[in-house]
Amino acid sequence: MGTTGPGAAGSGSTKRHFRVWRGDPAGGRLEDYQVEVNEGEVVLDVIHRLQATQAPDLACRWNCKAGKCGSCSMEVNGMPRLGCMTRMSTFTETETVTVTPLRTFPVVRDLVTDVSFNYAKAMEMPAFAPPADLSPGDYRMQQVDVERSQEFRKCIECFLCQNTCHVVRDHEENKRAFAGPRLFIRAAELDMHPLDARGDRKEQAQAAQGLGYCNITKCCTEVCPEHIKITDNAIIPMKERVIDRRYDPIVWLGRKILRRDQLASASGARPAAPGPVVHVSESPAPFVPAGVAWHSPEPSPAAAPVGGDGRLPVTELTLDRSGASSPFGDDVTFPLPVDQLRYQPPSSS
Ligand code: SF4
Ligand code: SF4
Ligand code: FES
Repeated sequence: MGTTGPGAAGSGSTKRHFRVWRGDPAGGRLEDYQVEVNEGEVVLDVIHRLQATQAPDLACRWNCKAGKCGSCSMEVNGMPRLGCMTRMSTFTETETVTVTPLRTFPVVRDLVTDVSFNYAKAMEMPAFAPPADLSPGDYRMQQVDVERSQEFRKCIECFLCQNTCHVVRDHEENKRAFAGPRLFIRAAELDMHPLDARGDRKEQAQAAQGLGYCNITKCCTEVCPEHIKITDNAIIPMKERVIDRRYDPIVWLGRKILRRDQLASASGARPAAPGPVVHVSESPAPFVPAGVAWHSPEPSPAAAPVGGDGRLPVTELTLDRSGASSPFGDDVTFPLPVDQLRYQPPSSS
């Protein structure tokens, strides 16, 4: 064996115990491996060594090995992580390292999952709508506005946040009605964009993206490798603006006495430039491109709980930390307990 390349073990190497989920949509199991690990390596290095030495057919998606392509998302010892950014020094020398696929998406094979749910949700999202009174090249933004959305543009689409969110993690039935934190930051970015001519981002987020399903557990923020403050800087501000819009007595009165077009102009929304900038139906009914299959038959979307006054509870908005308990059962706590480190394809659970 040489001293370089994925199969190589260096001089300071130790043998470590890995458990890796192997299987396909029909089922699978955790397989045990004893594998060399060198100083400074990451979990993806060890997966590559397994492929080079013991498991040439082990499927794993990766690309950049630099934390920038978002391909190598997996669950390591019950924590959603990027394999290429998880140092082996995170674990003690005697610790078993268990690697399983993302739980929320259907498995294709071994560690590779079908994340097309996220792309379908992205296609439902109305695109940036430039104002009709400006031509490309005439757009001007304040630096403060640029910086506000810059944080959200750091997203590498690893979908760790989507995988972590308990609203869809074990609830296939919610996937129709819930776009997830990655799309909430996109909605927030466009809602904060001074040149976006659509005035209904908040309504879209609430009615078509399922913003109300989020109970601000902040799990998505905790796993984001780009350290985007998904809940504090995107979801909570969007929820607050939805509430402002819905319960502001002046807006309520305006709804009663103004026509829709008058209301839009009163809200400051600018007319959008004509052209194919919106690639989605205006209807809140989800758009599903051909070929995208959710794991289970379509259920009715679960209705958000409303009080006797017909309103959503807003207590979560007054808290500076996790919100009320979830209507979808217990929130998931990460990392998962050691005795729960297993994986079942969602379709078989
Ligand atoms: S805060 Fe919690 S419920 Fe809301 S999107 Fe993030 S993970 Fe999901
Ligand atoms: S917001 Fe963070 S966790 Fe979610 S997809 Fe983007 S980079 Fe990944
Ligand atoms: S391989 Fe690109 S983020 Fe890990």
